[in-house]
Order: sequence, then C-alpha cells, then structure tokens
Amino acid sequence: MSINVQKAEFIKSAADKKAFLRDGRPTAVFAGRSNVGKSSVINRLLNRNNFARVGGKPGKTVQVNYFLVDKCYFVDLPGYGFAKVSGEERERWGRLMEDFFAEPERISLGVMLVDARHRPSADDVTMSDYFWSCGSPFCVVANKADKLKKSEIPERLAEISETLHLPEGFPLILFSAETGQGRGELLSLLEKSL
Ligand code: GTP
Ligand code: MG
Repeated sequence: MSINVQKAEFIKSAADKKAFLRDGRPTAVFAGRSNVGKSSVINRLLNRNNFARVGGKPGKTVQVNYFLVDKCYFVDLPGYGFAKVSGEERERWGRLMEDFFAEPERISLGVMLVDARHRPSADDVTMSDYFWSCGSPFCVVANKADKLKKSEIPERLAEISETLHLPEGFPLILFSAETGQGRGELLSLLEKSL
C-alpha cells in the first residue's frame, strides 16, 4: 500500500491494554531503547520536524503512542534501558510489552531500532525476542549512522546481526534520522508490509 506521509496525526497514548487500538488498520510498531531515536525516525519518515515528540525526559512515559499515517498506524513503543528508571517502572514496561505482544495479529511490521554505533544491549536482545516470539515480520534499523565513519560500517552491521541472531538476508537498514539516509529503503519496506 502506498503511504501518503503528508496525512499524519497523533491519535492517542495508551497506558494499558484496555486503551490499545484494535480497529484492524495495518500497523507498524517502532521499538528501541530510550534515546535511540524512535521519535526522530518517525519524524524523518514523515518529513516533519517535531511531530512525534523528540527529547524530553527519557524513560518517563511508559505509554504506547499511536499515530495515524494515511490509512495505517505508526506505533511508538515506550523506550527501555534507561539507567535511572526504578524497578517498578521497569516492571510496568515489561507488563505493557507482554500485553502489547499478546495480540501480535495487530502488528503488520515491527521496526526494531538499535544504535548503529554500539553492540545491541541485553535489553535490545530482549526486545528483539518479543518480535521473534510473536511471529510478526520485523526489520532492524541501525540509527545514528551519521555518527559512524564509512570504514566502521561493515563491522558494526555484522556485530548487530550477530548479537540479535539475524539470519542471512534479514532486513537490516542503515539509517540516519539526521540526514535521511535509509529513509527510502525503510519507507518502501513499510509500504510493502502495510
Ligand atoms: P524516547 O522517546 O525517550 O524513548 O527516545 P527516542 O528513541 O524517541 O529518541 P529521540 O527521537 O527523542 O532522539 C534522542 C536524541 O537522539 C535526540 O537528541 C535526537 O536529536 C538524537 N537523534 C535521533 N536520531 C539521530 C540520528 O540519526 N543522528 C543523530 N546524530 N542524532 C539523532
Ligand atoms: Mg520518543
């Protein structure tokens, strides 16, 4: 389905499963640690500067944010891995994710974001396991590529593939929300999947 990214609006934030949207629209789900650039990647895809909120206090909002983009939803999942969150907040995050992934038929495509500069964390592995075990198709987006030297790229991508146990040929997209690198590739994957 072609996606008209000009048509985008914020719909709601859901703090628990009662508030999840279940109206059958194709849905892309963006996940990744706090500060990896989930909101920035969404903004870049939509070519807007301040649509999905950027910055703010990482780890603060444990909510599932829904954006309607043309005829589908973009879902911004709450970030994880922020050092300062309490055990209680961590548990809240875990419960919300369990509930969210308990209804995998609503996920048309998962977009798992990692930082292109670093080996994925244990939390990233946990997050990718949610996608693996729910059975929905997903891709991995290595964001902040603008901060890498060209010569570092192959090694970083290999490390990401290895740590997340990505099979040969798995969609792994080098991306920069800053420069727009990878936007076309991710958008066409979204259009194919939604
Ligand atoms: P939470 O909502 O807290 O989970 O964070 P997030 O994953 O939505 O990250 P956000 O989009 O707020 O970006 C975090 C910071 O990284 C911001 O200062 C962005 O400007 C910066 N950032 C995001 N993407 C990129 C990128 O591709 N390159 C560079 N250089 N900076 C980026
Ligand atoms: Mg965000």
